[in-house]
Amino acid sequence: MARRIVIAGNWKMNKTVSEAVELAKAVVAKASEAPANVDLIVSPTYVCLTEVAKVVAGTRVALGAQDMHWEESGAFTGKISAAMLVSAGVKYVILGHSEQRQYFGETDETVNKKTRQALKHNLIPIVCVGELLAEREAAKTNEVNERQLKGAYAGISAEDAAKTVIAYEPVWAIGTGKVATVEQAQEAQAFIRKVLTGLYGAAVAEIIPIQYGGSMKPDNAKGLLAQKDIDGGLIGGASLKAEDFIGIALGA
Ligand code: PGA
Repeated sequence: MARRIVIAGNWKMNKTVSEAVELAKAVVAKASEAPANVDLIVSPTYVCLTEVAKVVAGTRVALGAQDMHWEESGAFTGKISAAMLVSAGVKYVILGHSEQRQYFGETDETVNKKTRQALKHNLIPIVCVGELLAEREAAKTNEVNERQLKGAYAGISAEDAAKTVIAYEPVWAIGTGKVATVEQAQEAQAFIRKVLTGLYGAAVAEIIPIQYGGSMKPDNAKGLLAQKDIDGGLIGGASLKAEDFIGIALGA
């Protein structure tokens, strides 16, 4: 079975409600240009979810969130639950993003708890892994990705793992304009699939889409997406312009 190509916009902490609605409308207007085998996702901030949900309803663009908490509900000031996301029309949730790991205390363990909770609520987790520049320079890329992956998927069944998406994001390439070379990205992603094969067997590993993330743009997307183990992109900066976002999907 051919893997789907998953192109997801991560809008990060950008766009007010009205700006998010405007961007979502522009993405929807251009969505038909993207090849049919591409799944398109936009991930605005929490406060924009319900309004953007109205814009994308009934279109080929799905709604994603940028994080969630692992508990059902209760005294967790400032946090958002899986059930809340589902009630807002969310289908995908980005988990373990390097900015969460770097600035907000995310660990392999919290990524695991969130991934299990998302699956319990039928949300599709986009599980982010990736090495820091210092780790790459110390030849620890595979080791770091394996640790993060095994941490995130601990205790998760093959059946559930098959529903997830993975984003390989070398941290040194995020928002820096330094895109990984196609060889670097393919090599890391082939390794990730090898780890998945070890955990779940080849059949499951073959159907999990692995996105690349880190300064992906229309002009470098085609080369990346042509690689055997690169099945889409998690797009930050370039997802804030509908034309660039869809331009990346055109490379699929
Ligand atoms: P970037 O961000 O495309 O701006 O590098 C990617 C990401 O952090 O998901």
